[in-house]
Formats: sequence, C-alpha cells, structure tokens
Amino acid sequence: MALVTTKDMFEKALKSDYAVGAFNVNNMEIIQGIVEAAQEENAPLILQVSAGARKYAKPAYLLKLVEAAILDTGLDIALHLDHGEDFDICKKCVDDGFTSVMIDGSKYPLEENIRLTKEVVDYAHAHGAVVEAELGKLAGIEDNIKVDAKNATFTVPEEAAEFVAKTGVDSLAIAIGTSHGAFKFKGDPYLDFERLQEIHKLIPDTPLVLHGASTVLPEFVAKCNEFGGNIPGAQGVPEEMIRESTKYGICKVNIDTDLRLAMTAEIRKHLIEHPADFDPRKYLAPARDAIRGMVQHKIKNVLNASNQR
Ligand code: G3H
Ligand code: 13P
Ligand code: ZN
Repeated sequence: MALVTTKDMFEKALKSDYAVGAFNVNNMEIIQGIVEAAQEENAPLILQVSAGARKYAKPAYLLKLVEAAILDTGLDIALHLDHGEDFDICKKCVDDGFTSVMIDGSKYPLEENIRLTKEVVDYAHAHGAVVEAELGKLAGIEDNIKVDAKNATFTVPEEAAEFVAKTGVDSLAIAIGTSHGAFKFKGDPYLDFERLQEIHKLIPDTPLVLHGASTVLPEFVAKCNEFGGNIPGAQGVPEEMIRESTKYGICKVNIDTDLRLAMTAEIRKHLIEHPADFDPRKYLAPARDAIRGMVQHKIKNVLNASNQR
C-alpha cells in the first residue's frame, strides 16, 4: 500500500478493455466514499486534485487525507494534479509528493504546448512522477457536431504522434467531443470514435485519457430537481460510449460532475426530508454513501475495472 504512479496501472489497462477511474476530490467525505468503493471492487484508483480543490481544501489537507485513505484501506493510490495550468503548479505538486501531474497546455499553439509539456516532463521524471498532457480542446456545448470546427478543436491524430514523440509524455488527454460539466450535448450525444481509433493506431503504446466523461445519470438530476434543485437540460456521455472508448486506448476516465450530482442530490433530499436536522454528519454520511454507490457503479458497470488491481 502506497502512493504509486499510474505507470503500472496504465500498462495493464492498455492491454485490456477497461479503464482506471480518476475521480476528483475536494474533501474528506468524497475521498472516503471513493476509496471505500475501490476497495470493495478491488480496483485500481486515481484520485485527482484540481487547482480549485487545492484552493478550497488547501494542499496539505488533501495530501494528508489521501495518505490516511491509503493507511485505512491498504490500497495503492495514484495522486494526480488535474489541469495544471503552468510549470509552477506542476512543480509544487511533484515537490509535495504527487505521483502524477497534468500539464494542460491545450490552449496554446502546438509548439508552445510541446515546449511547456517537455519542461514539466523533464522535471517530473527526474523526481519520479509521471505526466499527462492534453492536445485538442474539449468541446463546449455550442461546438456540438459542428463539422467544420472539428479539426480546429478535436485532437489531430498526426499531431498527437508528433506531440508524444517530442515530449516523452506518459499519457495524453484527447478531445473527441466530450466536455466538462453537466451540459455536454444539445442534441444526440456524439463522440468521434474514428478519430480515437486513428490516434490509438498511431500511438498504440500511449495511454489515452478521456476528460469530461461524466454520464450525468438522469435519476440523479431528477433527484436534485425533485428536492428543490433547478438543473434542466443536463446531459452526459452515454455509458456505452465510455465502455466503447476503453477498446481504443482510453486507460483513464475522468469523473467529477457525477460525484457532485450524487452528493448534492443526497444532501438536498436529506435536508428537505429532515428539516429539523442541523448536524452536518446527518447529511454528509448519506452523501458519502452516495459517492461510494456512484463510484462502485462506475468501476463495475462503466469502466469494467473490478478486480483489476
Ligand atoms: O475538469 C475540471 C474538474 O471538474 C475540476 O473542477 O476546477 O471546479 O475543481 P474545478
Ligand atoms: P466531468 O465534468 O464530465 O466529470 O469531467 C471531469 C474532468 O474531466 C476532470 O478533469
Ligand atoms: Zn478535465
């Protein structure tokens, strides 16, 4: 049991049709719910921390909570920085003991993204950490199936091959039509599987990462709305599309929004049904259970990662 890199996890996942879940963490209850599920399913696990999570919870708290989770469960866990925007935050996280960092240079032109990523790779590798980079831009809902815009935003396979060769990055996040948040598609969900297959063919040894992979299950949106929420039009990536992507090199699947929905739905329900409660443990305990249930469902039925530890 230890903090581990994603190297062995991805090596194994690349050979098979499953993916490792990478779940965003912001507080103790979220971490506990996720690790309980991974333990129950005997699954490999990545916990990831965004800049926003670092600001909210403070890095030292998150690091210690993850160390506590390892002690408590006996799991090997990879601790990953999600969407690092510059060299400094990646360096800080490596220095703090993160085993993996993402440098997100996707907003830069190719050459600058390569330069920045290489700088982070050199530092991280010298300190025993691994690096994820991103090429292509995740679609916003307004980009949905605009054929002309695809090459401007989605990952270009030949560029992915050049990028990996020049940076030596350990894994690559690609853009094939997913987006962050609860509102992913206006019409029918669409992911560019042809493009994904092309990328995988050109760089078969590079683990690929799918961001924006929440499925936004209707029952959780409905539950939020039933208990005073107002989130109409939420739509995620269908579960079968996530399963399909694991056949073409997707080894890491990022999930945050689904955790937020599961937790919020439960807290809303509890507070409406028990208006006299004001002990936070009364609603945070069921919220933690909801996280556990959601993550267990993902690992078992969507990522196919049960017993792959
Ligand atoms: O990709 C973004 C993640 O969902 C993290 O979101 O920046 O609000 O923590 P956040
Ligand atoms: P979702 O918003 O679909 O959960 O995506 C999370 C993500 O990609 C974190 O990097
Ligand atoms: Zn992301």
